[in-house]
Amino acid sequence: MKEIGVGLLGLGNVGAGVIKVLADNAAAIEARLGTQVRVRAIAVRSLDKDRLVDVDPALLTTDVDSVIDRDDIDIVCELIGGIDRAKAAVLRAIERRKHVVTANKALLAEHGEELFPAAESGGVDIYYEAAVCGGVPVIRTLREGLASDRIDDFYGIVNGTSNFVLSTMAKTGLDFDEVLADAQARGYAEADPALDVSGKDAAHKLAILIMLCFGTGVDVDEIYVEGIDRLAPADFRFAERIGSVIKPLVIARNTPDGIEARVHPTMIPANWMLADVPGAKNALYVHSYALGASMYYGAGAGMMPTAMAVVSDLIEVARNVRAGVAGSLPLRSYRALVHRPVLDIAGLRSRYYLRFSVPDRPGVLGRLTTILGKHGISIAQVVQDMPEKDGRPVVVVVVTHEAVEGDLREALADIGASAGLGEPVQVIRIMPSAAHA
Ligand code: NDP
Ligand code: HSE
Repeated sequence: MKEIGVGLLGLGNVGAGVIKVLADNAAAIEARLGTQVRVRAIAVRSLDKDRLVDVDPALLTTDVDSVIDRDDIDIVCELIGGIDRAKAAVLRAIERRKHVVTANKALLAEHGEELFPAAESGGVDIYYEAAVCGGVPVIRTLREGLASDRIDDFYGIVNGTSNFVLSTMAKTGLDFDEVLADAQARGYAEADPALDVSGKDAAHKLAILIMLCFGTGVDVDEIYVEGIDRLAPADFRFAERIGSVIKPLVIARNTPDGIEARVHPTMIPANWMLADVPGAKNALYVHSYALGASMYYGAGAGMMPTAMAVVSDLIEVARNVRAGVAGSLPLRSYRALVHRPVLDIAGLRSRYYLRFSVPDRPGVLGRLTTILGKHGISIAQVVQDMPEKDGRPVVVVVVTHEAVEGDLREALADIGASAGLGEPVQVIRIMPSAAHA
């Protein structure tokens, strides 16, 4: 039986994991596929680097195109990351009629509009299970398992690094930089970890999920994104006090007016299933018409879980190669995407946690609440922590009733412009317990 030839682009965390999974699980893979998957060449940036796995040095090259162009390669596995070089490689693979497996969510979210149609007209597949939720098979689930259902909304923890950082900060009280360095050392973070902490990586994944769930193409830049880098120990302490935890959520709802799409740290009730997603684990909680609520959970980042998803894609595409078919599944879950607007965050209705750091002077609290009231922001709770030393600012936490985000922003702008009301406020949205995610 003809072996399936793979050209591997990248031998970093995930690429090395692919070599390891193919070797460690070779017998099971062959038993499932009926033949072997053979890596015939590997492109890297540096030939001299120490590798996480042993590979025959003769397989390595710095010439990406030479790997793609080899006649004995059926599938190009793009694991170099980033946009420009990866995009050129994927387009070249499509031109050369090679199928593509990639874990590159940034590439697909930013350039899927070009790449998927190119693959479809070129008669090749692009599979990308590892691009969202790492090793958790959410893409296969959404594209195949829920193909008969209508998804109305979903909530997810889709960035392992952010979840690891927030979970660890909440548990240990360690500071942000220390915990992020740990996430990097464990191979969870992107080559540029700013993508993780800024929420951008989650936004890329959210755009892909919206495409798969709603059949809608959205521009990533239209998604409202907030990172996790402004959270402080006081926020975690307060969350605990009100029976909540702070999680880095992606939220999407398909509404008659457009798509609600947002990425931000969110306070969620501690008894929700999503509150119980620790460390670098990911989860996706989906509401659909026929199935109701369902949740998909597991390792969202790291060498072996991610590599497992990549190798499962290699097997699936290898099956298509052997059957001589491509495109039996719509690459984006829907045959054609509809473009719909993303709703402006200013129209969001939510409860809010507001942490102010204000001078310890009489009347300050009254001025804050007066401005909030003037903008129709109704207050549910106020907590004031005494400063550790005289002269230090006081931390004032205000929890609002449901309010319109646009009104809140106007109020906060007024507060910011008022003399003597301290530093910029920390805002965290609070999910209503009725959402049951
Ligand atoms: P790494 O940075 O660890 O590895 C990247 C690899 O690509 C390295 O081997 C590097 O070579 C090689 N490379 C980079 N640029 C070039 C180039 N121009 N030419 C040839 N080789 C190049 O990244 P990861 O393995 O962590 O991630 C790979 C992809 O998987 C990314 O798209 C990432 O977003 C995605 N992903 C990662 C997950 C994770 O947990 N890490 C999870 C899910 C997806 P060299 O080693 O010589 O520098
Ligand atoms: N940096 C990403 C994360 C890798 O932390 O989730 C998985 O996509």
